[in-house]
Amino acid sequence: MGNRIATRWGTVSGVFAGTLLLLIASAVVHGPAFVEAAGRQPAGADVPAGIRAIPQGAAPTVLDGAYTSAQADRGETVYHQQCATCHDGADVDGPPLTGAPFIDRWREDTLAGLFEFMKTRMPQTAPGSLSSAAYLDVLAYLLHENDYPAGTRELTTAAVDSTLLVGPNGPQPLPSGALVAVVGCLTQTPAREWTVARASHPARARVGNDISAAEGTAAAGAALGSGTFALQNLGDGGVATLGQGQKVLIKGALSQRAGASRIHVTAAKSVAGTCP
Ligand code: HEC
Repeated sequence: MGNRIATRWGTVSGVFAGTLLLLIASAVVHGPAFVEAAGRQPAGADVPAGIRAIPQGAAPTVLDGAYTSAQADRGETVYHQQCATCHDGADVDGPPLTGAPFIDRWREDTLAGLFEFMKTRMPQTAPGSLSSAAYLDVLAYLLHENDYPAGTRELTTAAVDSTLLVGPNGPQPLPSGALVAVVGCLTQTPAREWTVARASHPARARVGNDISAAEGTAAAGAALGSGTFALQNLGDGGVATLGQGQKVLIKGALSQRAGASRIHVTAAKSVAGTCP
């Protein structure tokens, strides 16, 4: 397999290159979910690379009433002026902004992922052309249309950063195909399979093919967890610069099959020489 893609950390085998092409090809057919799996999630380069710090524990979620009815009403007006032509079914280009397939692309993250996408990429013909307040109102309207309850406080940019977007049943595991980031200890099994052990809970990542210096620094100080993920496409060549026992940051597409968790690696970086 002579076909290899150079990356910051080494090489990814041509098998994965084929997979990437397949994913991109299926994205054309199926929409952004598959693009995300290929590390080219629609949030794209406009959005700061990131594993955002996801608030844990008692963080508010969209089930707690994250917007007001008045705000959603304002958002409805904006939506009909700026978004409906493409997103209301008349034009096949814009995907529906309601329902499980839509929510699955954005849940288990703060509202910031979706908000930043809308602000930097929509309306598609004039990205970023609305005021921040108008984008907040439209987001409130989309929450309303997805049956999330209204509350007593308006959605603000601060609340966008701290409110978790979860599905109707609350926090759930990430769907297969989601682009994730985990921090853990690189280990090789006796069968010479690379895994990341003592891994943190997978966080949504929006940029999959790059690890910024800031992300590396954050990962170096991040707490380890108890997860284990088999790493795919991290062959012997790929780990030349990574070593057994190092603390690593891994990004890639999550796959959960038959009880086993795997990550199709799109970027990997050693963040500490040992894994304390
Ligand atoms: C000219 C057509 C057009 C207009 C107008 C438009 N969109 Fe889009 N939108 C698209 C297309 C096409 C996509 C899918 C491609 C992509 O993700 O970039 C999309 C994707 C999206 C997504 C991601 C959907 C998903 O399934 O994850 C959101 C959210 C979104 N648009 C919100 C908006 C909002 C809010 C407005 C109005 C402020 C708007 N769009 C206006 C065409 C449009």
